[in-house]
Amino acid sequence: MRILGRVVSTALITGLGLAGVAAQAAEDPVATRQAIMSSVGAAAGLGGGMMKGEIDYNPVAGKSVIATMRAASIAYGDYFPAGSDQGETDATAKIWEDPDGFAAELAKFSAATEKATAASGKDGPADVDAFKAAMGPVFGTCKSCHETYRKKN
Ligand code: HEC
Repeated sequence: MRILGRVVSTALITGLGLAGVAAQAAEDPVATRQAIMSSVGAAAGLGGGMMKGEIDYNPVAGKSVIATMRAASIAYGDYFPAGSDQGETDATAKIWEDPDGFAAELAKFSAATEKATAASGKDGPADVDAFKAAMGPVFGTCKSCHETYRKKN
């Protein structure tokens, strides 16, 4: 399931310093997609912490959260080849039973991160309200996809 070519996603991941993730991809798509989602989880922790006021808001940190989400949303769909529903994975069988439904969730994720990137500008969202406005829709896509396509919520 390729949303964009491997070349484009690899370039983006490498650009963000996650070259190791891309290098792993050929042998182990499950580990790769879990590593990508871990980076999303870490970015969500930072972003959510700033949105709740637990971490002081900083535009550069806001921009890095959005950039991580953006890269993940572009690359993620590349790592679900046939047969990778087996083993240590929390991906549900639904991904392979209903590829169009999964592609639609990926498209929502990617559309939300594209808008957030546009709102992020050169220096990141100026204040926490701008960051919340940019990230709110991105956070909405986590639950929407996990509900059906991830075993644990
Ligand atoms: C298009 C579907 C989709 C979207 C959108 C999505 N996820 Fe996931 N996520 C998954 C799937 C599928 C797994 C399980 C993958 C596996 O175990 O092979 C997962 C796993 C995870 C994990 C566990 C990673 C690990 O270490 O195994 C975290 C953390 C996570 N997601 C956070 C998020 C957050 C936060 C968002 C929103 C910003 C998000 N996800 C958006 C599909 C999605």
